[in-house]
Amino acid sequence: MPAARKPGAAIELVDVVKSFGSERVLDGVDLTVPAGAITVLLGPSGAGKTVTISHVIGLLHPERGAVRVAGRDLAALTDGELYEVRQSMSVVLQGTLPFTCGLFFSLNVYENVAFALRQRNRWSEERVREVTMEYLGMVGLADRAAAMPEHLSAGMCKRVAIARALALQAEIVIIDDFDSGIDGVRLALLCGMLADVQRETGATFLVTTHHMRAARKLADHVAVIHDGRVVSSGEADAVLGSDDPLVRQLVAGATSGPIQLADV
Ligand SMILES: Nc1ncnc2c1ncn2[C@@H]1O[C@H](COP(=O)(O)OP(=O)(O)O)[C@@H](O)[C@H]1O
Ligand SMILES: [Mg+2]
Repeated sequence: MPAARKPGAAIELVDVVKSFGSERVLDGVDLTVPAGAITVLLGPSGAGKTVTISHVIGLLHPERGAVRVAGRDLAALTDGELYEVRQSMSVVLQGTLPFTCGLFFSLNVYENVAFALRQRNRWSEERVREVTMEYLGMVGLADRAAAMPEHLSAGMCKRVAIARALALQAEIVIIDDFDSGIDGVRLALLCGMLADVQRETGATFLVTTHHMRAARKLADHVAVIHDGRVVSSGEADAVLGSDDPLVRQLVAGATSGPIQLADV
């Protein structure tokens, strides 16, 4: 019987196990994402960040354990209820195949954002345009509105997907692989912008990255994931300042430590 829901948790994973074939990629993930704050899920490549996110959005189902969003156990929901829960979220998928940030490659940048706004709101085209251009402006891509995604860099695609996710003004904003393809200066600028949006809206943000500086700049809370387990979690300063060997290796970018090339 999974433990009772903690008050103030927007998302909870309790002892989530997931295998692909004989490989157990989530090995009892416990993760609490407090409401109204930015939680960064930090971990090296292959740690299980995207598989974890896929469970939160109901694309994958755990073979053991529970996933709750706003207190609702996803496994107990009808398709209609799951749709409702998804309407409370906006998601930026990771940039690598098959996700490519979740962009529609047949639509230009403007339409990628506008299409999502039309799906979620009954707005006039004028309002759709105003909000679309406002959010493209926030990620510095207003002048690329007519471009097709295939002509953009990986980082630009990510920024379009971030603009779309923020424009939806959802209660829960999920950004997988936040830093991928984004240069250091723009990453710092985006961190500042995301933090401002979170403070203004009070939304819950769950952001995954393997980039230490992004985690430091963004996070109110940090959960560190390695080998399919959350090994450390809590307030950002406490976790990032802890002497856990994995955290120290991530902080230092050191070659010696628990993370090695041979790890998947
Ligand atoms: N659909 C899949 N089939 C088989 N293995 C998978 C699948 N998705 C992810 N994996 C494996 O699960 C592990 C965690 O992957 P992932 O969550 O994508 O890591 P990351 O932390 O880089 O996002 C990796 O070993 C990856 O190869
Ligand atoms: Mg990933």
